[in-house]
Amino acid sequence: MIFEQVATGGCQSYLVGCDETRAAVLIDPALSQIDHYVALAAQNGVRIRYLIDTHTHADHFSATKELARQFDAPVVMQRASPAPFVDMRLGDGEMLVLGQMRLQVLHTPGHTADSMCIQVGDRLFTGDTLLIGGTGRTDLPSGDPEALHESLFGKLLKLDPALLVYPAHDYKGRSHSTIGAEIESNPRLQKRDRAEFVQMMKSLDLSMPTHLTEALRTNMSGGKTVGEMLAEATAHVPFMSMAELRARVESSANELVVLDVREKDAYEAGHIPGARLLPRGQLELRVDKELPDPTARIVTCCEFGRISTLAASTLRTMGFERVVALDGGMKAWLEAGYPTRAGALP
Ligand SMILES: [Fe+2]
Repeated sequence: MIFEQVATGGCQSYLVGCDETRAAVLIDPALSQIDHYVALAAQNGVRIRYLIDTHTHADHFSATKELARQFDAPVVMQRASPAPFVDMRLGDGEMLVLGQMRLQVLHTPGHTADSMCIQVGDRLFTGDTLLIGGTGRTDLPSGDPEALHESLFGKLLKLDPALLVYPAHDYKGRSHSTIGAEIESNPRLQKRDRAEFVQMMKSLDLSMPTHLTEALRTNMSGGKTVGEMLAEATAHVPFMSMAELRARVESSANELVVLDVREKDAYEAGHIPGARLLPRGQLELRVDKELPDPTARIVTCCEFGRISTLAASTLRTMGFERVVALDGGMKAWLEAGYPTRAGALP
């Protein structure tokens, strides 16, 4: 078996492949590691055949949709997954054939309704159903402590005790465990009684994961993260430094249009001398009136340099080919002691 474990910020993802046929899968790949997976697939000389999420993740951004495009392979999830971009939905007892290997699906709802575990040979990829010394939480959307009790005690813990457990998370740098070791020492599995287990799960009082709503939104719908939107905009927008812009606005030969895309209040409190106001929210609707010359040289600016990057990207999409974004924003401009004007433009 070809096997690679990628650990990042407590998330564990896996490349599992067949030695003979060089077919492989990625299990729970994270958006931040895309280049890593592409490199691992090349190093191992494998072709990625399936991209698998063991469940809808609420705490990080899944890379399955993006990698499906890059590797031209289907996204695979459990049948209950709400994500519209899933190409293949698997039910309990079904299998994926990967060269000479068989990936066996166990539906294990509880952490989420669409949680599944995958058994391959001597290994069990447990997602967030069973962690080393823990279990997945049941207080996030579609979580259900009673279902988790059944999935653990009625299903996973009845498997071969020697089976190796590879979870989707470990925050202490451990790579794996076994079913037997977890039965013996996992504190959450000591409450075998259903009511006691449910009571324990309900009283955990865990803090919400960072990016919860954004992760659920993107993982459930296939929409983009804010980071992706910015990275895409940054990749096709040129920038101008603050020092360069300052020199230009102070020169009598300046032809640049400085376009401030903040709201009116922020603009009137202090803007770059000569800057024009066109808030980001009105950009598309007012652009023809405000910027009749599509060949104008334009520099967009905002408070921190992010909205201005998105605005420059929008303008370029609309045909303003000489738009650049300020590398920085009004906050940095003020901190640098560069000149500003207050009030509305005459
Ligand atoms: Fe999870």
